[in-house]
Amino acid sequence: MKKLVKNNVYWVGKVDWELQKFHGNEYSTHEGSTYNSYLVQEEKNVLIDTVWSPFADEFVENLAKEIDLQKIDIVIANHGEVDHSGALPALMKHIPDKPIYCTANAVRSLKGQYHQDWNFKVVKTGDKIDIGNGKELIFLEMTMLHWPDSMATYLTKDNILFSNDAFGQHLATEKLFNDQVDQCSLYNESIKYYANILTPFSPILKKKIEEVVALNLPIEMIATSHGVIWRDDPSQIIQRYAQWSNDYQEDQITVIYDTMWNGTKKLAEKISEGIALEDPGSVVKMFNLTKYDENDLITEVFRSKAVVIGSPTISKSILHSVAGFIHLMKELRFKGKKAAAFGCYGWSGESVKEINALLAGAGFEVVSEGYKNQWNPDLDAQKAAIEYGRTLARSFAKQAVEGKDR
Ligand code: FEO
Repeated sequence: MKKLVKNNVYWVGKVDWELQKFHGNEYSTHEGSTYNSYLVQEEKNVLIDTVWSPFADEFVENLAKEIDLQKIDIVIANHGEVDHSGALPALMKHIPDKPIYCTANAVRSLKGQYHQDWNFKVVKTGDKIDIGNGKELIFLEMTMLHWPDSMATYLTKDNILFSNDAFGQHLATEKLFNDQVDQCSLYNESIKYYANILTPFSPILKKKIEEVVALNLPIEMIATSHGVIWRDDPSQIIQRYAQWSNDYQEDQITVIYDTMWNGTKKLAEKISEGIALEDPGSVVKMFNLTKYDENDLITEVFRSKAVVIGSPTISKSILHSVAGFIHLMKELRFKGKKAAAFGCYGWSGESVKEINALLAGAGFEVVSEGYKNQWNPDLDAQKAAIEYGRTLARSFAKQAVEGKDR
């Protein structure tokens, strides 16, 4: 059933309460998600985005209860990714000649995915469509936020920015608006979304925010394609994005490890203890990689000024869980964060050196040669690990002061 957004604008999307993984298995969605599609009914009827393909038939069936599909004049595809375009094939069977407004890159992605020669109308930033009753839709390319084809659409007079993925959150809710949901969940899902999806594009995002602000468009609502619509002070999420895109960090140090026989775990505990003793003002957190959700852990890294990564040596290398996690951090191109390594070993002891190399390759500033210990850490080794934690805390504190000057 459609839900009223404002005046003649309705939500006609899908709430996916059961979604636990997104992008295949790359992104955990503990709180489900929504695929937001919007119907704008002025003199022209406009459909903005659709839903993920498993819900395509249900979407078209529901939409047909709200509007005679033949009366849809315009379809807008803000983004070609399947969670928003997935119902286009089912919909376009009913209205094959209706125009689909999208970017040139979206034509490439939609044709590549669905192999259909629909009636594409390519738009660029600043292009407009008159939809009657004195209202216009204005297009704004959002290249690389987060795909080359992404764009946003602005509805004049109602002052709604249909931002697609930007400013979204994976949060299933029957409520439509940001002031109607739990604020803690909303913040956590918003920062997780940014950390795990948008971090690599922070430099582009910074410029885009400046560009949008310079357009001076009044924005009363930001209608995203996932989660809630920002109607209560929508500038709050723009300000958050401005902060997050600026090499974001909090006064947090995060120790992340995996272990075979608990020796590296013991080091993690002692190093964490040393950091906390030396720097009681910082938040210190410790996680076993195999017991914690990787995407939530990426959010912890996003919030950190420094990370300390541990693995025992195995086959002259490191545990694949640790290698995989450092690879994930590398993909996300974090900037301005320091790092260090530790690990136990029995025979050859290469893990620390290898972690250091991977961290440096992932863009972290490695502050020390690392701490390694042969066999199970005895009391002396545990004291040395505490001292190592203290040394790291001093290096990381130095960075925090420098960070303030940036
Ligand atoms: Fe929500 Fe990039 O798709």
